[in-house]
Amino acid sequence: MEKTTFNPTVIRKDFPILNREVNGKPLVYFDNAATSQTPRQVIDVIVDYYSNYNANIHRGVHTLSQEATDKYEQARIKIQKHFNAAKSHEIIFTSGTTHSINLVANGFTSILKAGDELIVSAMEHHSNIVPWQMLCERTGATLKVIPMNEEGELILEEYLELLSDKTKLVFCNHVSNALGTVNPVKTIIDAAHKVGAAVLIDGAQAAPHIKADVQELNVDFYTVSAHKMCGPTGVGMLYGKEEWLNILPPYQGGGEMIAEVTFEKTTYADLPHKFEAGTPNICGGIAFGAALDYMNAIGFDEIAAYENELLEYATERLLAIEGLRIYGTSENKTSVISFNIEGVHPYDMGSILDKLGIAVRTGHHCAQPIMDFYKIPGTVRASFSFYNTKEEIDILVEGVEKAKAMLL
Ligand SMILES: Cc1ncc(COP(=O)(O)O)c(C=O)c1O
Repeated sequence: MEKTTFNPTVIRKDFPILNREVNGKPLVYFDNAATSQTPRQVIDVIVDYYSNYNANIHRGVHTLSQEATDKYEQARIKIQKHFNAAKSHEIIFTSGTTHSINLVANGFTSILKAGDELIVSAMEHHSNIVPWQMLCERTGATLKVIPMNEEGELILEEYLELLSDKTKLVFCNHVSNALGTVNPVKTIIDAAHKVGAAVLIDGAQAAPHIKADVQELNVDFYTVSAHKMCGPTGVGMLYGKEEWLNILPPYQGGGEMIAEVTFEKTTYADLPHKFEAGTPNICGGIAFGAALDYMNAIGFDEIAAYENELLEYATERLLAIEGLRIYGTSENKTSVISFNIEGVHPYDMGSILDKLGIAVRTGHHCAQPIMDFYKIPGTVRASFSFYNTKEEIDILVEGVEKAKAMLL
């Protein structure tokens, strides 16, 4: 795809939903960390799929099946190239990050034993905590936690103290969904490898902003959800190093993932199909590839630079509001601002902002341990994407001031 010049006014035209009104006001969509919006280039791919070549893949000799299979496998290669995986069969299509993490956690059931240790960070989404707790229950392994500081940064010295030859797995997000902190994942990975532990990095929040290179990171597993990066819901990927994917057993049994089935014994298909039981989200996978094409045509450097401008502008304007506190003040952040106004419940703030057409997320953001750390019930989270503007941030600031005046 041709490279385009970065211009938010032009880019906004790609997103039909941004033209709609909510409660009689123009939509200001600041819930991008939950789900990003979909450009017409990706919507067109979805319409094209169902209009022209909807068919089941891999098994059919007929033309439609072959066309769908080709497009689906081309999408896998796009994802491989984007994340710089060495081999396309190291990319497993999943329904998203939650599925990807559960796949790995289940795979380790037969590998871990009582006394083994797993290390998680203090700022994880529940989907990077609960599957591992379930794994610990199944195996007798124990979970240790890398603590964080008031700025919402991991305390690396304490992480190094936790590592030992008992450590078998380390998992951490690349970017925190609740705080926006970009974690020093390369340092975390290298230290874990020194004690022989494998590392899973949850890239759900990083992928919309940072083009991760899995070979450079030398990460064992990396997870992504397409719906957070201009793609559809219900599709994502698990990157796994070939040697690990060969060791892990299949997650689900069924069609597509077998080599041969008899009632006595089943042998499994080669990678990546071993982990892709059943009919996948074919259209979703193809649209995921289109979303990567779209974002790469804009350019991840351009996206990051512009979103950082939005982050700085919004931080400065919001901090000027008396009684407003931002949670997550690391120097290294993506365009996420979690905040509260003293004496105002985040839910009340979110409800009033919605009346003004402004979509933010309120609550614990599936990261209750972070809220416990700050001793708060939740936050208001405004998360910006490359199609947002400073004018929209002005509307947010005005809305927060209005809500504050109504609620206090
Ligand atoms: C950091 C992080 N990890 C995991 C997830 C779960 O992603 P999904 O619901 O797409 O599986 C999210 C979603 O918000 C997230 O922000």
